[in-house]
Amino acid sequence: MDKVKKEGRYQRLYTQIEALMHKCDNPVSRMATIAAVLHHKMEYFFWTGFYLLNEDKLQVGPYQGPVACQELEKNKGVCWAGINKARTVVVEDVHQFPDHIACDSRSKSEIVVPVKTPEGKIIGVLDVDSSELASFDEVDARELDKIINLIFVKY
Ligand code: SME
Repeated sequence: MDKVKKEGRYQRLYTQIEALMHKCDNPVSRMATIAAVLHHKMEYFFWTGFYLLNEDKLQVGPYQGPVACQELEKNKGVCWAGINKARTVVVEDVHQFPDHIACDSRSKSEIVVPVKTPEGKIIGVLDVDSSELASFDEVDARELDKIINLIFVKY
C-alpha cells in the first residue's frame, strides 16, 4: 500500500478506534478492540495482536489471525527485541532476523511497537505480521504508536 493511502487509512481507523475506547476503560478489552479493528481493516495484516509481560514472561494477549505461540522464549525474537530495546522494531524480512520466532511460516515481515503505561512502564508489545516482505515502514510505526496510546486514555 502506498504511503499516502496508508496514512489516510490509519487516520480513519484512529477516529474509529478512539470512539470505541469511550465505551470501556479495561486495557485488555481495549487491546482486543484495537486488534480486531486493525486486523479487519488493514488487508496486509496477517497476524495482529499483543504480547504482554507477566513477571519475566512474554505471553500472548488479545489477537486476531492464525493460532500463535502462547509464550515467547526469553530474550529471543522480534517481540523481545522491542521490549529490551524499548523501541519499535521493523523487520523487512523475518528470515534475515537472526533469532526470529516463527509462529507461522507464512509470516514474512513484522513490526513490534512497545505498549507503555502513562507512567512510561512497558507492559508488552503490539505485534503485527504480514505475509509479504517489507510491508511496514515509518508510517506504520508512527500511526500504530498513536493508536496504542489510546489503551490508557482516560475520558
Ligand atoms: N515473530 C515473533 C513471535 C510472535 S508471532 O509473530 C505472532 C517474534 O519473533 O517475537
